[in-house]
Formats: sequence, C-alpha cells, structure tokens
Amino acid sequence: MHMSHGSTAVIAEISAGLLAPAAHISPKFLYDGLGSKLFEAICELPEYYPTRTEAAIFAAHGAEIARVVGDGATLIDLGAGNCAKAGSLFPLLHPAQYVPVDISREFLLGAVAQLQQRFPHIEMTALGLDFSSGFTLPDSVRKAHRVFFYPGSSIGNFTPEQAVSFLRGLRANRGSDGGLLIGVDLVKDHEVLDAAYDDPLGVTAAFNLNLLRHVNHLAGADFDVAQWKHIAYFDFERSRIEMHVEARCALTVHWNGGERRFERGERIHTENSYKYTRQSFATLLERAGFATTRTWTDDDQWFAVIHARAIPD
Ligand code: TRP
Repeated sequence: MHMSHGSTAVIAEISAGLLAPAAHISPKFLYDGLGSKLFEAICELPEYYPTRTEAAIFAAHGAEIARVVGDGATLIDLGAGNCAKAGSLFPLLHPAQYVPVDISREFLLGAVAQLQQRFPHIEMTALGLDFSSGFTLPDSVRKAHRVFFYPGSSIGNFTPEQAVSFLRGLRANRGSDGGLLIGVDLVKDHEVLDAAYDDPLGVTAAFNLNLLRHVNHLAGADFDVAQWKHIAYFDFERSRIEMHVEARCALTVHWNGGERRFERGERIHTENSYKYTRQSFATLLERAGFATTRTWTDDDQWFAVIHARAIPD
C-alpha cells in the first residue's frame, strides 16, 4: 500500500464510496493538477462542443445579453476559476461589483488581482468558498441587482433534484432582486453526446482514469490504471451522460483502511452530466422560483445561455 495524503475526512469519503454496493468516487477528485490540465485539453477537442459552443453564443449575442442583464449589476461568478469567462463580458456588461466565488481561494486572488488592473472601476470581492453545499453571501456583496453567473453547464453535474435545491439557494441569496445567467447543455443526437465524452484520441479516457491516480495519492490506494477502462454513454431515460471506470479483469484494490474485490466488468461511477431541453430546464427553473426571460442558442441548438429572474414571494 502507498502513503495517503488526504485528510481523514477525505479518506473516509473515498472509502465509503468504494465500499458502496454500486461503487462511486466523487467527481471533485477529477481535478488534481494533471486532471485540470487534461480538462483544458478536453475543451480543445473537436468532439467536446460545450465550451466552444457556449463561447460562440456569448460572442454572437453578447450585446443583447448585456441589454437583458442591464448595466451596474452585482455579478456573482460561481466557480470563477481564472475569471476569464466573466472578464470577457465586462466591456459589454459593465457590472458595478464583481464577486468571483471558487473553492480555491489562492488561485482566485491571483486572477482577481490581474483583472482589477484591467478594470479599475469595478469593485471586486473574491470569495473562497464551496458554493455547491449552500452558502450565504456576506454584507460586502451589494444587495441591489444581483446576477448569478453559472456558465459551463456545471448545473448538469447535479441531479435535477439537487439542481432545484441549488437554484433555490441562489434565490434565497437574491438580495433586493436576483437574476441568473446560466449555461445549459441541451439534449441532442446520442452520437454527438457519446463522442463528446469518449473521444478517439483518448483524452477524456485519460481524464477519467486519472481519478484513480489521484485516489491512489489521497487514500494510499493501489489502483493499477492499466486494469481499468473509461466508459461514457448517454442514458435516454435519465437524460444524462454517465461516466464510469470499468475493471478489465477481476482484481482487488486496497487503500488506507479498506479493500474491495471487483469482478471483470464491474464499474465505479465517477460523474453524471444531465442534458436538458429548453422546456425541461424552464420547468426546473420554475420549480426553483425563477422565470425564464430569454434564451440564446447556437444554430444547431446544442447549447443554451439562459437569463431568468427570481420570482418574488
Ligand atoms: N463537467 C464536465 C461535463 O459534464 C466534466 C467532464 C467532461 C467529464 N468529460 C468528462 C467528467 C469525462 C468525467 C469524464 O461536461
């Protein structure tokens, strides 16, 4: 067995997932240093359309999006990362305050410092917190004209139930009035979906399998990556892409405090990516107390950028 570098809580979480009847590992462990680079590489693939399609929608309809959002917003960027997506909208959007939120506070502070130089008139308030498990905005965030910016179709990585409670949480943080500008990946031919999550070059496979390397590091596990293969497919019933790793042969994995035998063909579930129709997402928004104001899509209707308003009580 290898050394474990994760906290006791992290090891306990990984252990519980591996011992569950249907084994699973949280998708948050996909993003170690190499994983983040592999995801950037995925976004360069011709098969992975979401990132570039969303960017093309913002490029084509930016002025109109800005008109609907309105000047002087308090722009709350959920999962801001390097702040590049929001930053590219500033020249059109003219927010009064920019509030990037991300788990990785250190990384965020560096990105915000650079952005502040380019846009000295926008007040910037970086928040290092995990917004996925509910949060309350501090008083340093203006109450007026709050707009939650949630691009990249990350909403699809929640189940619809989780997505509704997440959006209800945003609504509860709406201040004096609240809007939402969100990117949503749409249902389309399964060939297109399957290829986006299982490209012939194998970058997506490397990204998914890298999770096992990361778990080796965190939990002192002894996964042999060569014994596993990447699986991704669209499940029509649930309208989601499911990502798994599948054992190529019978094997036993050991980790700090546990072990499990996997039969050949047995899987570990790593992530879901739900796909919506314009109608199914409008319904989801309604359940969360938001009303759709406008939807922008590409010509193929592969991806949607949606603006919605919080319905007052
Ligand atoms: N959040 C991304 C998505 O749903 C993550 C992702 C892309 C992913 N390709 C993957 C996760 C392959 C696991 C395996 O689009």
